[in-house]
Amino acid sequence: MVGFVLVSQEDPFAIDRAKRLAREIHWPLVKDLGDVPEEALVAWVDEGPLRLQRLYSPQSGSRQAGAVYVDFSAPRLEHRRRLGVGRNQLFTKALGVHKINWREREALGQGPLRILDATAGLGQDAWIMAWIHPQIKVTAVERSPLLFAMLEDGVKRSQELVNQVNLEFIYGDSVKYLESLPRGTDQRAFDVILLDPMFPKSDKSALSRKEMQVFQDLLLQDPESFDIQTQELLTKACEQAPRVVVKRPRKSPLIKSSLAYSLEGRSIRYDVYLNR
Ligand SMILES: C[S@@+](CC[C@H](N)C(=O)[O-])C[C@H]1O[C@@H](n2cnc3c(N)ncnc32)[C@H](O)[C@@H]1O
Repeated sequence: MVGFVLVSQEDPFAIDRAKRLAREIHWPLVKDLGDVPEEALVAWVDEGPLRLQRLYSPQSGSRQAGAVYVDFSAPRLEHRRRLGVGRNQLFTKALGVHKINWREREALGQGPLRILDATAGLGQDAWIMAWIHPQIKVTAVERSPLLFAMLEDGVKRSQELVNQVNLEFIYGDSVKYLESLPRGTDQRAFDVILLDPMFPKSDKSALSRKEMQVFQDLLLQDPESFDIQTQELLTKACEQAPRVVVKRPRKSPLIKSSLAYSLEGRSIRYDVYLNR
């Protein structure tokens, strides 16, 4: 996979942003598509959202597959937000938040429920979790500098909406982040940790959406090492929260055998690990 940062020549403010981004992600900066090979991924920097696009889609055989960007007010996400907040949704059940008596929690002065999204990606799950209840505080960590820049861009573009929830994005590797936190069951940093690792490219049962295709191009260079990294992340997560939820394709193998239970949807599964 080759990547290029493409900067708009019309937008005078874009050039500085594009230069900074190109330096951070080590992609060459270009001003038009002239020399960009067709299999390239392109990060567009202009007056619109910071977006990532695969120029050629082998699946549809078409040029310029749709661009991917962070948009917290997108209708599809808005629909999911309304659904996801429901008590009976698989996601809320997997997180274990459907049974919480929030009034009692508040009366007991237990403070906000702290959720870590250790694989923030485009921030969609983090966003949904932050809207489940005002007493939920979500920290979301992303290690890809490009995706993190897209998250920051998305936050800026929907600042008013983002201000209504308790949500922060942190740039870095979650394994290191979790290692940096104090240890011990009496001082765990989070109540729940969510992991949504990359689905392996070879897994035919999880047909990629547009976003997943771009993700795979961007991040899945070595699927085997990815599995090992996920195991490490899960081990660290289990040290830092009594409940860890891993989102997986429905038929994929377990990452770690000691799980408490799974909740199955049509194409995905939530593996729940309870750590006393
Ligand atoms: C499938 S995506 C997550 C999508 C996300 N749940 C959403 O709703 O947009 C996986 C993401 O996890 C990130 N990731 C994987 N391992 C990580 C780690 N150790 N620390 C931080 N981010 C990680 C990848 O860079 C990728 O962006």
